[in-house]
Amino acid sequence: MKITVVGAGNVGATCANVIAERELAKEVILIDIKEGIAEGKSLDMWQTAPVNHYDTRIKGYTNDYAPTAGSEVVVITSGLPRKPGMSRDDLIATNAGIVKSVTENVIKYSPDAKIIVVSNPLDVMTYCAFLTAKVDSRKVFGMAGILDTARYRAFLAEELDVSPKEIQAILMGGHGDTMVPLPRYTTVSGIPVTELVSPERLDAIVERTKKGGGELVNLMGTSAWYAPGAAAAQMVEAIVRDQKRVVPVCAWLTGEYGIKDLYLGVPVILGKDGVEKIIELKLNDAEKELLNQSAEAVREVCSVLDRMNSVSA
Ligand code: NAI
Ligand code: 2OP
Repeated sequence: MKITVVGAGNVGATCANVIAERELAKEVILIDIKEGIAEGKSLDMWQTAPVNHYDTRIKGYTNDYAPTAGSEVVVITSGLPRKPGMSRDDLIATNAGIVKSVTENVIKYSPDAKIIVVSNPLDVMTYCAFLTAKVDSRKVFGMAGILDTARYRAFLAEELDVSPKEIQAILMGGHGDTMVPLPRYTTVSGIPVTELVSPERLDAIVERTKKGGGELVNLMGTSAWYAPGAAAAQMVEAIVRDQKRVVPVCAWLTGEYGIKDLYLGVPVILGKDGVEKIIELKLNDAEKELLNQSAEAVREVCSVLDRMNSVSA
């Protein structure tokens, strides 16, 4: 089995490394447009195989998609990251061009691949890949919810001084400041988090989660990569091992939650066929309102892409 990661930058290289260390495939192909970077990083990673004890072969190529042919899963991380003061939406024009051309190449060589989009603005870039790929929407989806939930779970683990493994949580909406963490659906080994953390502290953690990406951009001058790369690799694992994991994924909605024709973060069952089922939670009125606000924010940015496409058509 072959997995391709497009973009050998911070997130793409990290994701490829996690995939190889977990031996999720026999072969990982890393592609970048910058001469030599994918070749160099994959050679460097391959040289960790004897030390880290794995057999997965990682190979890098500069803008050559022929070696990606027949990939089971393709992760698209190519695109500019945020700089301090930029919102994810500021990246739309540049990254839409990149995601479109990358998706055309991916589909040409791997028409049956499951495509995981990581590039920002995430929900809109996933929509862009879907419009370009022209395949079943269950095979094109985006990574954000696992990362945002991981941040939320890490903050809660710190607050409670418990293992992060014990925190189960779900988070919905767009990958931006309007995302909707759901304390009502957050537990610590089955104990509702609302019984363990005060409403004030929980509010503060929810707010920190919403701005979690920005916190790291401000610290590092570019956006995060360890957690994003690991989160994308977890999606790859769910697919190639047909784990049927219940995770938040940016998926195409066709009326679920009363929302239609929009990519948005929702809980899904992720397995070998991609998004195998969208799970509809019973949200209360306040949660529904927040989800609708988030959907509207994403729809607005998608309309920018639609306008760009109608101008270039
Ligand atoms: P980076 O700048 O380290 O890497 C991006 C790579 O894409 C570069 O190596 C660049 O040469 C390559 N690239 C550009 N155009 C290309 C093309 N046409 N074909 C192939 N490769 C191309 O950026 P980083 O930190 O890896 O972030 C990548 C993207 O992921 C950004 O858009 C960032 O905002 C996004 N991101 C999304 C997250 C999410 O939760 N969905 C989390 C973190 C980052
Ligand atoms: C993140 O959340 C910027 O989307 C990127 O880290």
